[in-house]
Amino acid sequence: GNGAAKAGKSRNIIEKLEESDKNCVVFYGSQTGTAEDYASRLAKEGHSRFGLNCMVADLEDYDYENLDKFPDDKLAVFVLATYGEGEPTDNAVEFYEFFGADDVSFSEGGSTDDKPLASMKYVAFGLGNNTYEHYNSMVRNVDKYLTKLGATRLGAAGEGDDGAGTMEEDFLAWKEPMWQAVCESMGLEEREAVYEAVFEIAEKEDMSAEDNTVYLGEPNKNHLEGSQKGPFSANNPFIAPILESKEVFTTPDRNCLHMEIGISGSNLSYTTGDHIAIWPTNAGKEVDRFLNVLGLGDKRDTVIAVKGLDPTAKVPFPSPTTYDAAVRYHMEICAPVSRQLVSTIAQFASTEEIKAEMVKLGSEKDYFYEKVTDRNLNLAQLLEIVASGEPWSKIPFSMMIEGLLKIQPRYYSISSSSQVQKDKIAITAVVESTEKAGAPHVLKGVTTNYLLALKQKQHGEPNPDPNGLSYSITGPRNKYDGIHVPVHVRHSNFKLPSDPSKPIVMVGPGTGVAPFRAFVQERAAQAKAGQSVGKTVLFFGCRKASEDFLYKDEWEQYKEDLGDNFVLHTAFSRDGPQKVYVQHQIEEYGEELNKLLEQKAYFYVCGDAANMAREVNTLLGKLIAKYRDVPESKGESIVKAMRASNQYQEDVWS
Ligand code: FAD
Ligand code: 2AM
Repeated sequence: GNGAAKAGKSRNIIEKLEESDKNCVVFYGSQTGTAEDYASRLAKEGHSRFGLNCMVADLEDYDYENLDKFPDDKLAVFVLATYGEGEPTDNAVEFYEFFGADDVSFSEGGSTDDKPLASMKYVAFGLGNNTYEHYNSMVRNVDKYLTKLGATRLGAAGEGDDGAGTMEEDFLAWKEPMWQAVCESMGLEEREAVYEAVFEIAEKEDMSAEDNTVYLGEPNKNHLEGSQKGPFSANNPFIAPILESKEVFTTPDRNCLHMEIGISGSNLSYTTGDHIAIWPTNAGKEVDRFLNVLGLGDKRDTVIAVKGLDPTAKVPFPSPTTYDAAVRYHMEICAPVSRQLVSTIAQFASTEEIKAEMVKLGSEKDYFYEKVTDRNLNLAQLLEIVASGEPWSKIPFSMMIEGLLKIQPRYYSISSSSQVQKDKIAITAVVESTEKAGAPHVLKGVTTNYLLALKQKQHGEPNPDPNGLSYSITGPRNKYDGIHVPVHVRHSNFKLPSDPSKPIVMVGPGTGVAPFRAFVQERAAQAKAGQSVGKTVLFFGCRKASEDFLYKDEWEQYKEDLGDNFVLHTAFSRDGPQKVYVQHQIEEYGEELNKLLEQKAYFYVCGDAANMAREVNTLLGKLIAKYRDVPESKGESIVKAMRASNQYQEDVWS
């Protein structure tokens, strides 16, 4: 945290606004970069359409104690993602605690009345996921706190829903009336929007990609100089060796990887139940497509120096670099396309016809859905199709840096026990590839296919992809021998009871079994070491016993160590005439399960948040009601209380 403080910069936002002559600050609380991206887009749009002078601010870079002095002729914008179980994002924790306190105390000399924020005008948008119980609780609560303290909200507080897959559309629908309200309140008028680049891209004819001062994917200076130094974190990943890799199952349409990643000597540590973040590299084929479509194919190794044209604009990767490296390691080029970006790009079309098509795509939601979203196109694929393969040489590269997310790490539930192997982190990842009828391209998950390519490289296997993903495997300059991947560890609250003699019940179909392999591995080791280990019950589900039964042989081994205390219930959904899911097995085991819960067994669910985790939650309430002979509403409230006391823990994703 405290990036600004470390760099010796002021944490005083009011001063910063005055100094840089801004009248609008867009604060963001972001975990995966989407909220940050929306914040940048709002700042740009505020300027180009309404002449607001905006800056974007990471919530953790500023203090909040002086917000009672926020000038009444300026605007504060809050773009706030809700993370997991209604939690703030890592960079918004302090902010949320500050405003959530019973007694918010502003700096000395500030107003002492009960409306200390009376001079602040703000707007707010939240990013959430309706499959979680505390939907958009960040924006809802912050909005409540600010209003209570006397601040005035302009327009409605917006809520985007990732669960329904409508985030982008929710955002677009929210911002038009919001801008109207802002214009009315601040006396602004809309003007003809002109594109103004945020970054200056200087091509350095006097430098070569071979120069050792040029970044070729290294995340920072230490890495560039060949001495990666800790502490390793999200801002400074560790380039870790892959010690082992294998496919735990392989079918024509799906495979699952098990990898062991070495963290020895890094000072990184983990405890059972944590997550590891993996920083991917874009597929060579998609990097080529992207550079070619921008007409940069021949210039890919040209050295570029990138700098913000405005002192508040942060360049999202280190510079000098090359077009190739910026795209390959730092830009999320394969993600779904933003409709707003398509509108903005229209002005750089080479013909009026192409421009008209882009305008139509940008303005007609249903047309966009049919032509882009439903066909899983990424930006370069779309631009290729719309211009029939002609390059878009007029698009400024700055617009791509502004318009695309910076590449995000993907998280994996660690599938090894830190007590068994503290220097080696295991992951269990299903390789994502979707072939959709009518779509011109197979959609390949960036990280999982990168990991697959690493595994193939490690084993000297050809990459079976007929199009050749040609991942850049060994990292920049091939200076890392063997096979490496950039990682950091994210600590979680998903934890075994500290007393191993407590019973546990785990529900983890598919890759949801990942952390439970770690849990069972740990308890088996404890039992072997003579500790008293309680009942260890695992519900696992997959398609077919003979196909995707993860760690089938290992469970046998753990059974030897844990004896009858280890019970594995399996649900094979596609082996018989009827689908069998883990819920069916849980239901059959209901009476026993209820007994275990009454003995304070911990209950864990991992995997699919959208359906499975919810259904298990509901089912548990019903089973408790049935076996304790209480109304279902009481069953539900017992489950809620179990969650509140951490007896019920979830590690879910969608
Ligand atoms: P991405 O490239 O990120 O694509 C993912 C999906 O996004 C695609 O399948 C598709 O639905 C959509 N998409 C991407 N591009 C487009 C496009 N152009 N058009 C339309 N749709 C698109 N996974 C595991 O396998 N094992 C684990 O143990 C595990 N643990 C996790 C723990 C946590 C806390 C979280 C948050 C996630 C976990 N995941 C796990 C999921 C994992 O983080 C990744 O999301 C997953 O591996 C896919 O990553 P990817 O980069 O391969 O795919
Ligand atoms: P299916 O794909 O055959 O429907 C791991 O993905 C396993 O979880 C698969 O057997 C899958 O079955 C199953 N599954 C799919 N939806 C589920 C749900 N809502 N609840 C529990 N299991 C589910």
